[in-house]
Amino acid sequence: MPHPSYTATAVACPNIAFIKYWGNRDDPLRLPSNPSLSMNLAGLETVTTVEFSERLAEDQVSIGGQAQTGAARARVTAHLDLIRARAGLALKACVESRNNFPAGAGIASSASAFAALSVAGAAAAGLTLFEAELSALARRGSGSAARSVPGGFTEWRVGAGDADSFAVSIAPPEHWALADVIAVISKGHKATGSTEGHALASTSPLQAARVASAPERLAQCKAALLARHFATFAEVVEADSTIMHAVMMTSQPPLFYWEPATLALMKAIREWRAGGLPVCFTIDAGANVHCLCPAEAAPEVERRVRALGVTEIIAATPGGPARLIDPANV
Ligand code: DP6
Repeated sequence: MPHPSYTATAVACPNIAFIKYWGNRDDPLRLPSNPSLSMNLAGLETVTTVEFSERLAEDQVSIGGQAQTGAARARVTAHLDLIRARAGLALKACVESRNNFPAGAGIASSASAFAALSVAGAAAAGLTLFEAELSALARRGSGSAARSVPGGFTEWRVGAGDADSFAVSIAPPEHWALADVIAVISKGHKATGSTEGHALASTSPLQAARVASAPERLAQCKAALLARHFATFAEVVEADSTIMHAVMMTSQPPLFYWEPATLALMKAIREWRAGGLPVCFTIDAGANVHCLCPAEAAPEVERRVRALGVTEIIAATPGGPARLIDPANV
């Protein structure tokens, strides 16, 4: 029988960035070019169980019940190697991961996936790590995963190196009842994933200006968030999303993530706000529009988004930290 501490299960939420991470100063270590700020998304979850065992000849990885091969498995194995090296462990692992949000709905799952894998994997390997260490570890698997380790609203500081590039909570989930009403515009697989996209960022002549101005936007966004001042928050969040897309569109090769429906919704949202409805947009490396609003405005935002012809909507509120759970309760 394996030692009980060789198995652990963890849960983590994805997050939506208000100030975006785009581009690394060190790609293999995922040391970002700029700091970023996000909100964990409650209700959306990845649950991951890691078991290190003598009976395994190689790592086994299953996501949503499907055995993984190729690049997806290799990315998990590389992350397990970091955990094994730290714990002085040679055992292979079985990793079982499930998302409760629809696969292919265009919601990035790498953040919740690597946050849950880091928390479960470290515990299964017998490591006792501080939250900051778990966040830095999660960052190595997927940059945005660093922000899904602490709870609520989190800030990922660039740091000087591997050990101090991690995210911290700047406010708990209860701080501000915001909602993220996600308009699912496209379910298709992205032509260019984030990892390839980050590597292209520096080919845009606009990236240097984006990176130089990001700390100021982050400071404005953080102050508006802490003061719960939606009007200021809305303008800086939209500006940060759009400047990231300007970098994407001017990279070599260029990356166009928006669909016509994306731009139509962006323009509608700005009109709705001018008309008094508190809502703003932010868009990741895909076509979906995240409509951010105070929770009490969410039903009206959802109604208007549907009236524009969007049929699939997923709504989320501020979420908690990545944490170990009893697998019996899964
Ligand atoms: C546009 O964290 O998904 O969502 O480190 O390669 O896994 P990898 O990239 P990832 O990049 C996220 C990019 C973004 C903006 C953000 O979430 O900050």
